[in-house]
Amino acid sequence: RPEGTEWATEVRRLAKERDAVILAHNYQRPEIQDVADHTGDSLALSRLAAQVEASTIVFCGVHFMAETAKILSPEKTVLLPEPKAGCSLADTITAEDVRAWRAEHPGATVVAYVNTSAAVKAETDICCTSSNAADVIRSIPAEQEILFLPDQFLGAHVKRITGRDNIHVWMGECHVHAGIDGATLRERVDAEPDAELYVHPECGCATSALYLVGAGTVPQDRVKVLSTGGMLTAAENTKADKVLIATETGMLHQLRAANPTTSFEPVNSRAECRYMKMITADKLLNSLRTATTEITVPDGVAERARASVERMVAIGS
Ligand code: 13P
Ligand code: SF4
Repeated sequence: RPEGTEWATEVRRLAKERDAVILAHNYQRPEIQDVADHTGDSLALSRLAAQVEASTIVFCGVHFMAETAKILSPEKTVLLPEPKAGCSLADTITAEDVRAWRAEHPGATVVAYVNTSAAVKAETDICCTSSNAADVIRSIPAEQEILFLPDQFLGAHVKRITGRDNIHVWMGECHVHAGIDGATLRERVDAEPDAELYVHPECGCATSALYLVGAGTVPQDRVKVLSTGGMLTAAENTKADKVLIATETGMLHQLRAANPTTSFEPVNSRAECRYMKMITADKLLNSLRTATTEITVPDGVAERARASVERMVAIGS
């Protein structure tokens, strides 16, 4: 394949030829983020997938993201440069599991994090992402029982910030974010006592971060629990010398570009998602050349999942 700028020029040329828009999640490799038309968090990319005019979407992310794009834009061709790019969190629950759980709680509203398969989404009432999860919960009447799936840490976070105790939480986790645990966080905060802290709510340490605030170890205004898009906005506005980042390390590329005067450091430098990193420069080029990596969703499943995903896209800023 061509190197460096030649590769980027070829990607752009092929995208134009194919009438394709390239969307990249914030955890993608730096070269993929840089060549994309748009980079963002799950909610921003879903909204873009629903709105863009191009006839093809090349989704540089993982399988459930490409499926969500296809559900929102069924008339478009959706390409995922490596169809094997999955998600350990999405794998913690099946459609059968949701049906069985619902049967145990008749009448409950089922809220699904977007990190789920299309088949799971088809069994749910409303989806959310980490940036609008609390708004989605608030859109449901207070007395209504909720089943929240599949992420236990995001579930605990929304319970905490909405103050609702009628939310049952599925005990799934993302192996990358669960690995950013309370002990690791404590070590980093002790070593960098003046730094700000941005924590993704999927992290095992999200509760510990707020515990550190409660214990007076870190002042409240220095700790933020945010989606990856929220981290970027906060980074653009911070005056801090240093910010510790608790999420997948791909996020650092965007943060450092957005604010070169602040130093952004990972809480856990080994927090890398191997699925996100499966989208390589070669795979993107191949996908644009051959269009053989298309993602489809069976019509019946897509129809049942669409209402749930469209509600998600409509809620929150
Ligand atoms: P957001 O970019 O929506 O915060 O999602 C994080 C994530 O883990 C996606 O896989
Ligand atoms: Fe899934 Fe975790 Fe990777 Fe995000 S970082 S795609 S939640 S495995």
